[in-house]
Amino acid sequence: MQKHKTTKMKANLSIAILLLFLSHSEIVRTQDNLALTPPMGWNSWNQFEGDITEDIVKQIADAMVESGMKEAGYEYIIIDDIWQGGRDNRNHIIPDPEKFPNGIKALADYVHSKGLKLGIYSDAAEWTCAGYTASYGFEKPDAETFAEWGIDYLKYDYCNAPGDMITAIERYKTMGDALKETGRPIVFAICEWGPRKPWLWAKEVGGHLWRTTWDSRDVWETEKYDSGHAGIMNILDKQDGLECYAAPGGWNDPDMLMVGLYGKAKSSSEGGSTGCSDTEYKSHFSLWCMLAAPLIVNLDVRYMNKPTKEILLNKEVIAVDQDKLGKQGFKFRDDGDFEIWVKELSGGDVAVCLLNRSEKEKEVSVDLKPILARFNHFDEKYTVRDLWKHKNTGKTNKPLKTNIESHGVVMVRLVK
Ligand code: GLA
Repeated sequence: MQKHKTTKMKANLSIAILLLFLSHSEIVRTQDNLALTPPMGWNSWNQFEGDITEDIVKQIADAMVESGMKEAGYEYIIIDDIWQGGRDNRNHIIPDPEKFPNGIKALADYVHSKGLKLGIYSDAAEWTCAGYTASYGFEKPDAETFAEWGIDYLKYDYCNAPGDMITAIERYKTMGDALKETGRPIVFAICEWGPRKPWLWAKEVGGHLWRTTWDSRDVWETEKYDSGHAGIMNILDKQDGLECYAAPGGWNDPDMLMVGLYGKAKSSSEGGSTGCSDTEYKSHFSLWCMLAAPLIVNLDVRYMNKPTKEILLNKEVIAVDQDKLGKQGFKFRDDGDFEIWVKELSGGDVAVCLLNRSEKEKEVSVDLKPILARFNHFDEKYTVRDLWKHKNTGKTNKPLKTNIESHGVVMVRLVK
């Protein structure tokens, strides 16, 4: 027992020393001006998994432009796992030649020609989560290959790697340094899902965003929270308290947007996740914007229905996410099935999201003055703008009286 305690103390001390070293290391702490607002884009995983191909990526890029997604700010097209074709005779990582017959460079050129950016995926072990070639031991050559191809974003997973925090920090730092050494601006997305508290060290190893939870499932709430079950509300609960770690250049990542999947995608539908209603997707999107979360959609943007478009293209809600002050919102009040989330915005504005987690519609009356006071704003003449109705609905000198549907939100911006 004593021996176990001493070993644990020694490990904690090593972590503390490593963190101290990292936070003082100038080599890793260069300003690169990347991800000054949370990254926005599309990722292939939940919708396509192993079926992702060059043709689909091109069609998605076209659809991102035609649907108005690009104009709304969605920029990165990220190819997730199962693109790899192993290594060539010089040990260079290569794409699956059947799925990507023209190679990734040609695809990057195409994506760039549309004014978009290309992301790719690897893992800090020999094999990825799906069992494909990964980058451990090949960080430098792989980073160089990605840079030569014109890659702008790397999602770096942690399957098949040792579970301790020190190894994770070392492995992510090796790739973070390798990416920097290429000289190409590449957003580095750390994906170890939260067990090793990446919010404490991810920025210092070059990360611009770091997953805080297990993979999101396409369901409002799950009874338990584990690697196979993480509903949208379960993930939301895990974000409370992490707000101090987010800032321009480094973001907490509560995983991708389930909006528009309707229980039809692959991994996200596991564990009995049968999808959400449009009301729930609207709440999910609003809350992710309150959290200054990366906005990475998963759905097939070639076929978006009207409600999905209305959610994903709501520019007033996106502006809350992308606000240049870069503050993550936090839970201001928790009445069990009714929550108030608030987010400080630039110019003295404040975003407020009222969430009804109950099974019934709720009528609420919220005094907005204490919320403003929380941010040292004592001027009572703020305008209340409803970000889903796109209307000014009153002033902050009167309580906000409103009905909220079950699992719904009312999201307002208090405008100075
Ligand atoms: C992990 C990640 C997912 C996805 C898959 C790919 O589960 O968390 O987002 O990238 O691996 O295999």
